[in-house]
Amino acid sequence: MKFDVLTLFPEMFETLKSSIIGKAKERNLIDINLVNIRDFSKDKHKHVDDTPYGGGAGMLMMPDVVYDAYNSVKTDDAKVIYLSPKGKVLNQNKVKEFAKYEHLILLCGHYEGIDQRVLDEIVDEEVSIGDYVLTGGEIPAMVLIDTVSRYVDGVLSEDSVKEESFSEKQQNLLEYPAYTRPLEFRGKKVPEVLTSGNHKEIEKWRKEQSLITTYKKRPELLNDEQKLEAEKLIK
Ligand code: ADE
Repeated sequence: MKFDVLTLFPEMFETLKSSIIGKAKERNLIDINLVNIRDFSKDKHKHVDDTPYGGGAGMLMMPDVVYDAYNSVKTDDAKVIYLSPKGKVLNQNKVKEFAKYEHLILLCGHYEGIDQRVLDEIVDEEVSIGDYVLTGGEIPAMVLIDTVSRYVDGVLSEDSVKEESFSEKQQNLLEYPAYTRPLEFRGKKVPEVLTSGNHKEIEKWRKEQSLITTYKKRPELLNDEQKLEAEKLIK
């Protein structure tokens, strides 16, 4: 999977060198290519933005500069995603869909945004990471890279993807609580069933706990039947 990131702040992506994503890069499972939009500036002062026609606050990134940055990496099968608070909010289903592409081009906006004409010309999908406004698209692009990379073969173990919150096996429920050693911590014991060795019972307990957790934390994810079942379990 290849990510080309069009950004004015490539240094922000240093953080992707660590942990699981860093390892995935080292193992060539993913490739993250940072393209500095400023390199495509048309003047000797390296300007990339200008004031909006019609007036208003802030500066806008210029269309020709952004277009040339895009042109330097585009391929016929690439999907171009613009990170913006105006986009559709990202969820796990969208992540899985993006993970099917071999090549994603992520466009990070800054200042007051980007001239609409180049967005209309090159963007396939506008994506937000939540209903709040960040200072730019870089952190959202990193969120997208992180979450999509988890689905690239070899990045995680099969089981981690299968059992987690929102996975198919979890039927879109949140993940059950997990425990490790010590057996007792500040007077609290690990639920007995988990040390019973009875795999059927453990599976049943985990399913129930998933339902209870979702009911307590994110009830809007449940249908009426699931809500009733959770209420029965809690009583
Ligand atoms: N840029 C600024 N805010 C954003 C958000 N919430 N999602 C994606 N890109 C953004």
